[in-house]
Amino acid sequence: MTESLPHWHLLGAGNMGTLAAWYLTRAGHTVSVVTDSPAPPQHKTLIFAEHNASLTLPCVSPSQFHSTITHLLVASKTPYTEAALRRVNGHLDSMTLVLRFQNGMGALDGRLPPGATMLEAITTSAVKGQSPQHTIVAENTTWLGGLPQPPAWFEGLQRHWPNLCWEADIRWVQWKKLVANAVINPLTALHDVPNGALVSDPSLQQQARALCAEADTLLTALDSRWPGNSFSAVLQVARDTAGNTSSMRADRQRGATTEIEAINGWLLRQAQRHGMDLPSHRRLIEALSGQAPT
Ligand code: PAF
Repeated sequence: MTESLPHWHLLGAGNMGTLAAWYLTRAGHTVSVVTDSPAPPQHKTLIFAEHNASLTLPCVSPSQFHSTITHLLVASKTPYTEAALRRVNGHLDSMTLVLRFQNGMGALDGRLPPGATMLEAITTSAVKGQSPQHTIVAENTTWLGGLPQPPAWFEGLQRHWPNLCWEADIRWVQWKKLVANAVINPLTALHDVPNGALVSDPSLQQQARALCAEADTLLTALDSRWPGNSFSAVLQVARDTAGNTSSMRADRQRGATTEIEAINGWLLRQAQRHGMDLPSHRRLIEALSGQAPT
């Protein structure tokens, strides 16, 4: 007997949310976007290297929910998570499976009903553009995990989502991505440069080294088995994405709230709990809480 595939409610149909919705629908799942008020379906164009694709996502608003949400995909930017979750208030319970597909850490902490199951998605894929046009720059590895076993639908989804891996213990994958985001994103946002500047500019490279060292000291305090060596990993990401505008630089250029609180802010909060300071991260947060670049 074949099990029926989930219906996903999506919070945040931006670049990553749209890409996830694309793969899910290819695999036979259904996806609707949760909007504040009733809205027509969203027609999206995904621009892949070799072809363009169209995706239509129906919208549903809180007044149209008739039952509990069984599968929730949270892909909103972290500063808007609280507002996004308000739309589904009262429609989540202990049976809800939440898939968090966001940069940074902690944006859902304490915000889900007790017993709700949480999956994390971490990606090194890159998508740029503004809805309804999404350009898929790279389809790299995406990890899903956080539970001992993958859900029944995972294997089917893997056939349609390129380079999708399962990682039961996803914490180190999250931390590795977090450090890349905590170094590349704020430095490129503050100096208004592409990611590759961290490789080519010795002064930025020096700052990156200090940020990595502080992050490694903290992460080792959180888990003594943490392998460290973040600097070479971060430089590799900067090299691989040299021409890219980081998401934080893009947010800052359009005057949007950045994700620094869920990235460097998370590191700083963990450090404070352990009686530590991360001066380079603290200074970056302070510098970025100023004005957008002119
Ligand atoms: O947030 C981003 O921009 C990306 O995660 C990364 C890896 C830093 C590349 O630009």
